[in-house]
Amino acid sequence: MDFNIKTKVLFGFGIFFEKKNFSILKRKKVLILTNKLIFDLFLKKFTVLLNEINCSFVIIKLKDQEPLASSIDKKFKTINKKYDYIMAVGGGSVIDYAKAISIKISYPKDKIWNFASHNSSKQIKIKKKLTPVISVPTTAGTGSEVTPFSVVSNSKVAKGTIKSVKIVPKLSIIDPYFLIKLPKKIKFFTGIDALAHSIESFLSNKLKPKYIYKTSATSIFLIIKSFKKYFDGSIKECENLALASLLAGYSISNGGTAAPHAFAQSLGVIKNINHAESVAIFLKKVLDITNTRELNRINFEIKKLFPDQKKVNIKNEIAKIYKLIKIKKLKLLKKEKLMIYEDIKKNRLGSIKKYPINLNDQRIKSIIESVCK
Ligand SMILES: [Fe+2]
Repeated sequence: MDFNIKTKVLFGFGIFFEKKNFSILKRKKVLILTNKLIFDLFLKKFTVLLNEINCSFVIIKLKDQEPLASSIDKKFKTINKKYDYIMAVGGGSVIDYAKAISIKISYPKDKIWNFASHNSSKQIKIKKKLTPVISVPTTAGTGSEVTPFSVVSNSKVAKGTIKSVKIVPKLSIIDPYFLIKLPKKIKFFTGIDALAHSIESFLSNKLKPKYIYKTSATSIFLIIKSFKKYFDGSIKECENLALASLLAGYSISNGGTAAPHAFAQSLGVIKNINHAESVAIFLKKVLDITNTRELNRINFEIKKLFPDQKKVNIKNEIAKIYKLIKIKKLKLLKKEKLMIYEDIKKNRLGSIKKYPINLNDQRIKSIIESVCK
């Protein structure tokens, strides 16, 4: 996909609560998607701000853990269609949901699943103008705040990704303040997801602009440098993680994801494990069998970008990060392991081939085996 950075980004501590950043919403109609926890913690104060600028808004508190195609089609029927903006305040799922709703508003008769890339039916290309999305990420990991992707799932078939420059958010308000009180588990898994986005887009053999090596290596460096303190509660490091997630989002928009995400997405098809956790389960396993020469390319790029810093060895640093939490081995039936393998072979070989190691059938099977009890 030929993609340039199209999102205007406002970045800084506390910016979500400053009126001046929302002049775009003055006297506009806005649909706000969020979840109950975020609403209770942050949105009550925000609605006062919206009233002051005469913005009329409707808030929907989503319950789904990850956007389900049937739920998007159903929810869409209950909403008014004439909004100036759709604002997503939440993690990757909420932002992906908002992108999907923006498509539905312009294509009310089509099922959202038919816009996703999967093998079961013909994919509809988005040509019409969509209601612009404003993303306000409340975790550091998804990258969805600036990407042209929306992941939706169809419980009967699989997970699919909608890819279109038309769903790239118009504006992203990135406020590291949201990260301060995140539970440690969420900090860990979403942080690893961002790390995976950067590593995979750096190493993927997809043709990409040269600056992507710099955005992804900077993101990796920021995560390695700040992760432990961020995980332990340092407020200062929240900014580095939010920035790393943003840069990782830019990186996958151009470089795409590769093998670790392919494994994670196939696992997500058969088990109800959220995206970031699935990625964390597989990232380290794939890195363990990645050629040192490939990982050194990242080490060298980091050294080039930050010559005053101590030389880094990302493999060692990532091993230290993984010691912060115990990732449980999966309990999978033989049948389920086979389903993951078959889903990879059927739907994700493109991502597998983009990764710079030869992942033959035997290796794919042994990686699946290695994450199980
Ligand atoms: Fe991801």
